[in-house]
Amino acid sequence: MVDLKAQYLRLKNEVDAALMQTVESAQYINGPQVQTFADALQSYLSVETVVPCANGTDALQLALMALDLEPGDEVITTAFSFVASAEVIALLGLTPVFADIHPQTFNIDAKDVERRITSKTRVILPVHLFGQPAEMEAIMEVADRHGLYVIEDVAQSLGATCFYKGAYQQAGTIGHIGCTSFFPTKNLGCFGDGGACYTQDAALAARIKRMAAHGADRPYHHKVVGINSRLDTLQAAVLNVKLPWLDRFISERQRVAAVYDSHLKEVEQIAIPVVAEHTTHTYNQYTICVKNGRRDEVMKALEAMGIPSRIYYPVPLHRQPAFCHYASAAWPLTNAEKACSEVLSLPMHTEMKPGEAAYIGRAIVDLFEKNA
Ligand SMILES: Cc1ncc(COP(=O)(O)O)c(C=O)c1O
Repeated sequence: MVDLKAQYLRLKNEVDAALMQTVESAQYINGPQVQTFADALQSYLSVETVVPCANGTDALQLALMALDLEPGDEVITTAFSFVASAEVIALLGLTPVFADIHPQTFNIDAKDVERRITSKTRVILPVHLFGQPAEMEAIMEVADRHGLYVIEDVAQSLGATCFYKGAYQQAGTIGHIGCTSFFPTKNLGCFGDGGACYTQDAALAARIKRMAAHGADRPYHHKVVGINSRLDTLQAAVLNVKLPWLDRFISERQRVAAVYDSHLKEVEQIAIPVVAEHTTHTYNQYTICVKNGRRDEVMKALEAMGIPSRIYYPVPLHRQPAFCHYASAAWPLTNAEKACSEVLSLPMHTEMKPGEAAYIGRAIVDLFEKNA
């Protein structure tokens, strides 16, 4: 699905030098590379403050911890995503309320969010899935009208933009807090775990920083119960090399997506990714829908040809044993359930040659022509 080794080889000299410099400095915890990276990401995103942390799941947890919520407060999030968002909500004693998605973009539907708002709702937590931002204009409008916080999960979409208040803004900078992950396969990946919160609000930034440092503003003086969540200095050293490449990495993903599109758009039983108006898609994943119950058959046929594919995600969050007791019977999550039965993600990474995407695209077209 990805070729991390090839990307490493492209940047080997710079990355090796940065890693060795860190090793020799012996400043393994909170070394200067961490602040250098926070400053560089802050400038890339045009945001007030970036707080690096240990991973994307922690970033979401820290963002929620910074808001001073009460047990039982409700956080509305998407039913169709990676587990991290629902998990941290539940771990903090808050209640995840699952909302449905738009069937074409797979992102949370602001209208469905609004009808699930109750007197206990405090936060909307959209996930910008597969590389494309959710409809932030509509989400912010609902949040503003109901006095809610918005935490954006940008783990899969760093570098994507979204039109808001007359200009294209970086995903994650529109709501109150953006949370991202530097897991190796993300748009900006390090060589292990890493993450960050970012915000335009200095007071929120101070609370997030405190939460990530055991609840302390200075060592051994603990104002609140926090956690230990730091971006490793070695990971920051890698990220400092890679951040200047992020826009190029995104263009490379977009080029691969265009090749897939050109082949697959002709296949009636396949829906290719739809780029919503007023957003840019960074294609962290290239995810198609295979209609008429044929998804698993296509996946098996690709496997037989040595072409990997993955189902992100096979089960919606409200159907997971860990979270099904939070599901409400009142409004079904029809689009999320349908997506789980149709989605298929194809290989996608920065080192992929257009010829490789064309080969995979043609193989899928042939499959449908043969079995029409
Ligand atoms: C949408 C989403 N949110 C959060 C996370 C959590 O990130 P991490 O693995 O860095 O904790 C991921 C990771 O896959 C993700 O895809």
